Amino acid sequence: MAEVLTKQAPVETPGPSLDRASAGKPLLSSTRIARRVRRLGRQISEMYADIENPLVIVVILKGATVFAADLLRSLSIPAELEFVRASSYPTGTSSNGHLKLAHMVEGPLVGRHVLLVEDIVDSGLTVNAIARRIRRMGPASVRIAALLDRPARRQEEVNIDFCGFVIPDRFVIGYGLDYAGLYRELPHIYSLT
Ligand code: IMP
Ligand code: MG
Repeated sequence: MAEVLTKQAPVETPGPSLDRASAGKPLLSSTRIARRVRRLGRQISEMYADIENPLVIVVILKGATVFAADLLRSLSIPAELEFVRASSYPTGTSSNGHLKLAHMVEGPLVGRHVLLVEDIVDSGLTVNAIARRIRRMGPASVRIAALLDRPARRQEEVNIDFCGFVIPDRFVIGYGLDYAGLYRELPHIYSLT
């Protein structure tokens, strides 16, 4: 059954995530994130204003889902949505950038303009490996939008075309980013370290 809207605004009861959210000062508040994401949405819309077909947004699961959902709604151009799911091989030699792709885009990308959407670029291996795979599919262009850029531990150079915030060398959670699968629901971004 659909939610019935009543005239009276519901009383806000803090759930468990709100309790945790009030534990410390966020690194990035939801207001600040929202403002930045809207701006990125405008820049992206300008960049692709004249393309023939809808922009293909490729969301890197799972962390980028919240960012991508907001970014998508900040666009003033038509866009399609695809998802990729990558996990690194649990071997010591991660610097070769070999990734296991558990899910790849479904539609053909030949001649299409593709925007990869990532939550955070750390070593750079994930987004670069995915970009390489996507480029082999014959797109017209591949660009990268990342909410966060943490350059301290970069192993491969990454050209981030649309970047939300450059952050210091701290592990962050919230707004889609997790620690051991948790905290993605927090509206603000916090540093755990
Ligand atoms: P990279 O391949 O080292 O650039 O790692 C990027 C991926 O690691 C991102 O897609 C995130 O899922 C994850 N990641 C890296 N740093 C953080 C963090 O501080 N919080 C949550 N996830 C992170
Ligand atoms: Mg990720």
